[in-house]
Parts: sequence; C-alpha cells; structure tokens
Amino acid sequence: MPACCLLGSGHAVPERVLTNADLETLVDTSDAWIVERSGIHQRHIAEPGSALSDLAAQAAHQALAAAQLTASEIDLILVATVTGDFKFPAMACLLQEKLGAHQAAAFDLSAACSGFLYGLHLADSLIRCGGHRHILLVAAEMLSSMVNWQDRNTCVLFGDGAGALVLGPARTSAGLLSSVIHSDGRQHGLLYNPAGSQHPLTAADLASGFATIHMEGREVFRHAVVSMADALQEALDKAGIAQDDLDLLIPHQANRRIIEAIGKRFGLPAERVYINVDRYGNTSAASIPIALDEAWRSGRIQAGQHIGLTTFGAGLTWAAAILRF
Ligand SMILES: CC(C)(COP(=O)(O)OP(=O)(O)OC[C@H]1O[C@@H](n2cnc3c(N)ncnc32)[C@H](O)[C@@H]1OP(=O)(O)O)[C@@H](O)C(=O)NCCC(=O)NCCS
Repeated sequence: MPACCLLGSGHAVPERVLTNADLETLVDTSDAWIVERSGIHQRHIAEPGSALSDLAAQAAHQALAAAQLTASEIDLILVATVTGDFKFPAMACLLQEKLGAHQAAAFDLSAACSGFLYGLHLADSLIRCGGHRHILLVAAEMLSSMVNWQDRNTCVLFGDGAGALVLGPARTSAGLLSSVIHSDGRQHGLLYNPAGSQHPLTAADLASGFATIHMEGREVFRHAVVSMADALQEALDKAGIAQDDLDLLIPHQANRRIIEAIGKRFGLPAERVYINVDRYGNTSAASIPIALDEAWRSGRIQAGQHIGLTTFGAGLTWAAAILRF
C-alpha cells in the first residue's frame, strides 16, 4: 500500500501575545536572559476559560480547505495533546463535533512534544495498511493552563497553539519517506506534571503549584540535542537520503540553542533550518505542524524538496521523519 502524503495543512494561535517584558512583571527574569538562553521574544497565550478544541478547529478548517476536502470525507481524527479541554472524553471527539466530521472515528494520543510525529507515524501505518483513507491529524496544546506562573524556570518557555494536517494515500513519489519514534520511561521525572489518578488533587496542591509542569531544564536540554539529532540521522538512513539533500529542517521549537546545535551537527546553513520559536515559544506537540504550515504557505517549501522533522519531549519521547513534497 502507498505511504501517506500531506494533502493540506493549517495552524492557529490565540490572539493574545505575552512578551518578555510582560513576564518581567510576573517573575524575577529579564528580556535579555530569556532571549539569550532560549531565543524566545514572545508567545501566544489563550484567554482563561477558552477551549483548545476551538483553536484546533480553526487549524483543521484551514487544513481541510487546503486539501479541498470536506469534513465528511475524513474517516479518522487523531489529536496529539496533553492539555485537552476535558480529562475525558478525548478532545478529538469534541473536535469531531465542531467540524461535523460524523463519519470519522476520533481519539487522542499522548506523547507530549513528540505527539505530532508519533501521530504522523501512526497515521502513515493506518493509511499504508488500508485501514483509513483520509486522516485529520491535529496537534494542539494549551500549556499555559498547566504552567506555574511563579516558576521562572518554566513559565517563560511555553506558548499555546494548534497545527493540523490532512493526510491521504500518496499517488506520486511525494509523501512520508520514513519515520521513527522512541521512548525512555526511566527519565520521566525530568519533565512531568504529577497531577493524575495517583494523586487526586487537594486544595493545598492547587495553591502550592504541585499540579503544574516540573522540569530539570539543563538535563532536558542535554537529552534533547542528542536524541533529536540521533532520530534525524536514523530517519535519514531509513529514507536513504543524505544530510546534504535535506532542503529544510523543521525541528521542534523548544529553544533556539537546541535548534542551532542540531543544525550545526548536520552541517546545515541557517537558511535551511526553520525557526519560529522567537514568536511562539514552545507550543509542545503543535510546534512542528505550525512551522510546517508557515513554511508551506509562504513558499519556503517547494515541490520535490526533502524536509526533515525531528522532536523531543516528556516521557521521555523523541521522533523524526523525512518528507518529500
Ligand atoms: C530552561 C533553560 C532555558 C535554562 O537555560 P540554562 O542555560 O540551562 O540555565 P540553567 O538552568 O543553567 O540556569 C542558569 C541560572 O538562570 C536562572 N534562571 C532560570 N530561569 C530564569 C529566568 N527565566 N530568568 C532569569 N534567570 C533564570 C536559574 O535559576 C539559574 O540560576 P542559578 O545559577 O543561580 O541557580 C534550558 O535549560 C532549556 O531550554 N532546557 C530545555 C527545556 C525544554 O526545552 N523543555 C521542553 C522540552 S520539549
């Protein structure tokens, strides 16, 4: 069976912008520190009480329009998120209602910042085996809802957003050439939110910041550079593509220094490495599809080009993929 190809893409971010200057009024930080250590200048943050599924629906509508398909032609909705509207049901079901995609099955997958590439890997397998024809893959996160806004180590890094792809069977040589996914649960304590069934929340937990993101930043950084580079090399080898033949690398947008370290390892000049972390911060699973959609719509991606994607996230999880457009 044919591999999957990209039929259309879209993305959406909340209107509200939180600048580094705004953060200076919340915690003991500075614009200079944030820019130097992360490359982030601003991030988009959802209004409290807004629904992430609305942002996901905006991105999905754009992707469907670009693919020239209607919602009724989608037979599976996959949503990668760790910040769905509700604990259950899956946000994919809420999105299904908003789109009117009544023919589709719908479920969420949880792989933190790697969720989009995990979803792409899964969608490709489902299309290859003929189980599904048109899959809507959405990666959407509202990490602002679980950030501790008093913790300067984490609150400066994250932003909210959604990216969407419509995938279908490839009819030409364009499509997903390879994908790899990996996990190491032994390292889950480096980046996690402990709120869950093991520890039902108390009022004291809410006040103490227990139910928020906990991160060992320096260790996460170290793992991210090694894992993202290794996964990208593995995906290149699997696709039979040399690193020189990568026309554009779109890495997970967590930190400009991580992105530049990977670009350097692969000998890629700056113009072949996509960066938008300065404008959005780390939007977790949404970061690659937001960047991919920007690059595709702006003409930065052209037919015949090879695009590398690589990511890293809590779990730990990491993944990479090679696409031909
Ligand atoms: C978080 C990160 C930006 C911190 O940069 P760093 O160079 O590693 O900085 P360190 O952790 O060594 O901290 C250096 C100092 O800056 C301080 N600091 C941390 N956040 C700060 C902030 N927002 N403003 C000012 N100072 C800050 C620390 O408290 C520390 O001070 P100390 O030396 O007095 O203890 C970086 O480690 C990182 O990006 N890690 C990966 C995070 C990530 O991508 N997570 C998501 C993965 S999907």
